Amino acid sequence: MRVLVTGGTGYIGSHTVVSLIENGHDVVIVDNLSNSKISVLDRLYQITNHNIDFEKIDLLDIDLLDEVFVKYSIDCVIHFAAFKAVGESQEKPIEYYKNNIGGLLNVLQCMRKHNVFKLVFSSSACVYGTPDCCPIPETAPIRPQNVYGRTKAICEDILKDTSNADNRFSFAILRYFNPIGAHESGLIGEAPNGIPNNLMPYITQVAAGIREKLTVFGNDYPTEDGTGVRDYIHVCDLADGHVAVLNWLDNNKGYCIYNLGCGRGYSVLELINTFEKVNDIKVNYVIGPRRSGDAATCFSDPSKANNELNWKAVKTVEDMCRDSWKWECYARSSNL
Ligand SMILES: NC(=O)c1ccc[n+]([C@@H]2O[C@H](COP(=O)([O-])OP(=O)(O)OC[C@H]3O[C@@H](n4cnc5c(N)ncnc54)[C@H](O)[C@@H]3O)[C@@H](O)[C@H]2O)c1
Repeated sequence: MRVLVTGGTGYIGSHTVVSLIENGHDVVIVDNLSNSKISVLDRLYQITNHNIDFEKIDLLDIDLLDEVFVKYSIDCVIHFAAFKAVGESQEKPIEYYKNNIGGLLNVLQCMRKHNVFKLVFSSSACVYGTPDCCPIPETAPIRPQNVYGRTKAICEDILKDTSNADNRFSFAILRYFNPIGAHESGLIGEAPNGIPNNLMPYITQVAAGIREKLTVFGNDYPTEDGTGVRDYIHVCDLADGHVAVLNWLDNNKGYCIYNLGCGRGYSVLELINTFEKVNDIKVNYVIGPRRSGDAATCFSDPSKANNELNWKAVKTVEDMCRDSWKWECYARSSNL
């Protein structure tokens, strides 16, 4: 299948490109490089031994996007491109709504015009907000608590409405839990601009001496060690989930929703301790106050994806910690 991957030079997109190529698919990447680097393409070549077609365009420019659909014969779209920082989304709601919703609408318009009807959409566990119970099934209430989460919930509604109105479409909505880790080669990984928003890049940057210390937000939650519990999933397992769902798109119309997670939670302290152990390095941290809006515990029920997609996250938290550190060391030594 020829797959158009929007946001394909980004963190999850680049790992998914590797999985797609390993599974015999052809890939075209479109990305405006607002949150990724062109050098990802060289590193993807080193991993896959494939030259990957790349178009540097902004999805908000529908004329340029249309040219991509004219130039390549596309069978399916995996739509990763979006802004993703929760804190920033609260400060820049207009930019977030415009990019995340406008980008999807342009993709859908081009797809319909060029008779492409299959799309995989990157959604997020953020759409659940603070869950009533864990594990969280796909049927849990949707009540996002920040602008970023609302952009994802709105995109999900757009996809549902579009598939209800036009039965040629097949949409797979994937709700990711907490992707961490990196490709085992250490050549690609998460490369945040500035201060990391997520825990693992913060841990690796403190371990590398780039930041002095990590602040753990709260140790008085009703969890085993008092720190927040999340469902971490290795980015390569997550990438494989996208390949697995392509079969669903081939055989079904309408839309489906799947949680992609491991189905078990790790606390912040468990993650730090595992990172220190597998990499034999110290992570300097202090305990700070709780951060407003953070749930105590959040982990998925991934059984729907396990049963229906024949997909399961197989990598361990040790793999996640080891591969994250390998990537950080490579990125530092290569000045990325
Ligand atoms: N990383 C996570 O923790 C996480 C969790 C849940 C969901 N998601 C979602 O998964 C998707 C991928 O996330 P990621 O972590 O790989 O993010 P990322 O920022 O690394 O990758 C996104 C890519 O999209 C590109 N992009 C953004 N806006 C664009 C536009 N208008 N036109 C063209 N390119 C554009 C960026 O340059 C970047 O390369 C996003 O939709 C994100 O919201 C991520």
